[in-house]
Amino acid sequence: KRVAILISGGGSNMVRLVEDMADPDHPAEPVLVLANDPAAGGLEKARALGVPTAVVDHRPFRGDRAAFEAALQAELEKARPDIICLAGFMRVLTEGFVRKWQGRMLNIHPSLLPKYRGLHTHARALQAGDVEHGCTVHEVTPELDDGPILGQARVPVKPGDTPETLAARVLRQEHRLYPAVLRRFAAGDRTPVMLD
Ligand code: GRF
Repeated sequence: KRVAILISGGGSNMVRLVEDMADPDHPAEPVLVLANDPAAGGLEKARALGVPTAVVDHRPFRGDRAAFEAALQAELEKARPDIICLAGFMRVLTEGFVRKWQGRMLNIHPSLLPKYRGLHTHARALQAGDVEHGCTVHEVTPELDDGPILGQARVPVKPGDTPETLAARVLRQEHRLYPAVLRRFAAGDRTPVMLD
């Protein structure tokens, strides 16, 4: 299975996915790392890992989401992915784009969905006084952060946690969860991966 990974920043999740796919027994291979920001730190990491990269800067498109997504689609059609992994990708995709890839596009979100869709998830969990938090990998559907859950990992919230300390604890679990989910998904198995 051919996998394209979309990033916006440092790409730490992308690195773990690519490293895991280096295993010859893995049913998938990385064919493209695509960023919406030419300054995304993950691009250099992808190049160092030998993965082809591309950039579609969203800013020249200003508010024209459809035109931005047509440019994304053009890059993706060149790479012919079977699966798209959104990994720290910070652009909202329209229903039209999602429908083209629905069933073949995954996202990782730093909360225990359905709690805390959207942004600032760690601050919101702390604000709510949650004692448990975590991350979710789900299939992407037109509704933001809402598709079928393919995996979750849980972390304890600790006294004195800040959004930053909690985010770091969650990110370590994201790096375990996303590779485990992609292995299973690429093998055609949608049984959720539940990590503690
Ligand atoms: C992190 O906040 C992570 O929780 C979320 O996207 C952000 C960047 O991740 N999934 P990455 O290092 O670019 O993979």
